[in-house]
Amino acid sequence: MSHTDDFVLDVTRIRDQVRQKMDEGPITGTFGHDPQKVINILNDVIATEVVCWLRYTRHAISAKGIDRAQVSAEFTEHAQEELQHALRAAERVSQLGGEPDFDPASLVQRSHTDYQVPADTDLRGLLEANLWAERIVISTYQEIIRWLGEGDPTTRRLMEAILEEEEEHADDLTDLLGV
Ligand SMILES: [Fe+2]
Ligand SMILES: [Fe+2]
Repeated sequence: MSHTDDFVLDVTRIRDQVRQKMDEGPITGTFGHDPQKVINILNDVIATEVVCWLRYTRHAISAKGIDRAQVSAEFTEHAQEELQHALRAAERVSQLGGEPDFDPASLVQRSHTDYQVPADTDLRGLLEANLWAERIVISTYQEIIRWLGEGDPTTRRLMEAILEEEEEHADDLTDLLGV
């Protein structure tokens, strides 16, 4: 009986291959992408998350209206999670041998979302601005996850974990909007 899908692991070949480029740390010949491309994508994710952190922080302070306390608390919680997302993406950039890019001069161009502060800081306007931003990152992160595919499972899992929290953020905002 023959099996065409047998898993055959050539450990001898792998042992030789990985020994040749020890300076590349966790990046081995089985990494399925150009590491620099993954680093560039993650640096734009860092910019996006920092802009989201700034926007939520600003909105938490400016929120006005009868349900101010509840909305402000939610924005503060989201802000903290966006900052964690930025830090986790930066850790991964470093693991991949890159330099995490927190340069404020290029944050806005690199970010997928805008630093939006509506002139009128009523709660609905703020909630809608943040829901719009969350829906943008949900879409862009899904595209990133699809592109990463099987080529870099660790970055993909990181982005999947972040995406899950962005979907929770969008859901929280939708609940607060009462739509
Ligand atoms: Fe985030
Ligand atoms: Fe978010």
